Amino acid sequence: MKQVVLIPGDGIGPEIAAAVKEIFKAAGVPVEWIEVAAGIDVIGQHPLGISEESLALIREHGVVLKGPTTTPQGGGHQSINVLIRRRLGLFANVRPVKTLPGIKTPFEGIDIITVRENLEDTYGGIEYYQSPNVAQGLKIISRAGAFRSVYNAFELASHYERKKITCVHKANIHKATDGLFLTVFREVSAQYPEIKAEDILVDNLCMQLVTRPEKFDVLVMPNLYGDIVSDLCAGLTGGLGLAPSANVGRSVVVFESVHGSAPDIAGKGVANPTALLSSALMLLRHIGLFDHANRIQRSLEKSFMDGKVTRDLGGDLTTAEFVSAICEDLKDEIPEQGESKAFVRKKLPALVLSTDSFERLVGIDLYFQNSAIPDQVPEEIGTLRLEAITNRGVRIESMPPEIDKIDVYCARYIASDSAVDQKDIRELLAAFDRLSINWVHVEKLFEMQQGNSFTAI
Ligand code: NAI
Repeated sequence: MKQVVLIPGDGIGPEIAAAVKEIFKAAGVPVEWIEVAAGIDVIGQHPLGISEESLALIREHGVVLKGPTTTPQGGGHQSINVLIRRRLGLFANVRPVKTLPGIKTPFEGIDIITVRENLEDTYGGIEYYQSPNVAQGLKIISRAGAFRSVYNAFELASHYERKKITCVHKANIHKATDGLFLTVFREVSAQYPEIKAEDILVDNLCMQLVTRPEKFDVLVMPNLYGDIVSDLCAGLTGGLGLAPSANVGRSVVVFESVHGSAPDIAGKGVANPTALLSSALMLLRHIGLFDHANRIQRSLEKSFMDGKVTRDLGGDLTTAEFVSAICEDLKDEIPEQGESKAFVRKKLPALVLSTDSFERLVGIDLYFQNSAIPDQVPEEIGTLRLEAITNRGVRIESMPPEIDKIDVYCARYIASDSAVDQKDIRELLAAFDRLSINWVHVEKLFEMQQGNSFTAI
């Protein structure tokens, strides 16, 4: 018996988790569930969050099936999904979508796995107000984050003998951040010559997904694009009610449905358990129980082909009736006696960091809040010379008057000499203070061997 942690969650979570347990029991799956509470207490309706003991249990067992959990709006506990991902370092989110027999979809032959970086990008929650009218969010892409998700995508593709991986990005605009993700993708792809590696701009991908989705195989991308593109892929193959996922870390994998806790139908006995069941089948394949997974998969597909589906797919079955249909079909399914081949990821290779370094501090970008450009912005302080003032990244002298300016400007100072003297930065800030110009943040500009650490204006 393999022990697996089960988080039923809240809303429809307990109903669909019970459905999975019943189907596993009928199929004789050798899994023992260790149940852990998280989300909103179903009886008391108070927020439970997730306890330290539960996180320790998850770390100990390493394999989790998680039902959806409600995130209270405007207060209450933090999103349990975000908390689990961060606390357990679940660096990649894997979402396979496939056209299923019996499910009407606009296209045939879709079989796509999206792999989404899961911890970085704009999801780090690093956001500020620069002025009451201007909000800023930091998009962080690290070599480590990109490497772990890209490496996982290639390992997955290699294990399941997929032919092609496409890196999705917007490196023509996000030159540094998406540029780094793409660089790492190219480096890792060189280690897998048997898998065709391509890249595509995210906008072009979206257009092609809704015209020729069958041409894509495995997609790997930063967090935000992954969030959107994977839902698009789910929509192409029957909707969120069918979409499974896995959150992958070094030693923990959390399998869960893509949909949420569906409070509008919770307790009514009509929820479709397919997404959680399909996540559970991914889990079985992960631990090497392929035959059990395939047998349940065939019964599930037979129910679809017979038109035995829940309301969300146009049928009239309750959750219980749908589960009975699958369990009934299971009786006709002859268990396979094939070889079990668990997906064992090779030990994560050591991260190769860039050997480049910041050679020289060449200037600073100094952001200040003001309703207009002040009369007396310092032109020169020590080694620093004012090169340009920009608004939303555009030099103010190139902005036609009819274009709205925001109340946060950036003054770029570049070293007139060979390098910036650090004390000149402090003096420049002091000069802004004396002039009562409210500076809000400073970015240092470095020269590296392979170009600059900043973009030109
Ligand atoms: P949702 O996915 O829960 O529901 C959207 C719509 O899809 C609803 O009409 C719902 O009835 C329907 N639906 C979802 N799953 C279904 C199923 N299995 N069978 C039949 N119909 C289904 O999204 P919503 O309403 O935006 O979120 C509700 C709560 O879930 C929120 O608190 C949100 O934060 C949380 N959530 C949790 C997730 C997780 O735990 N992984 C993921 C997404 C949302």
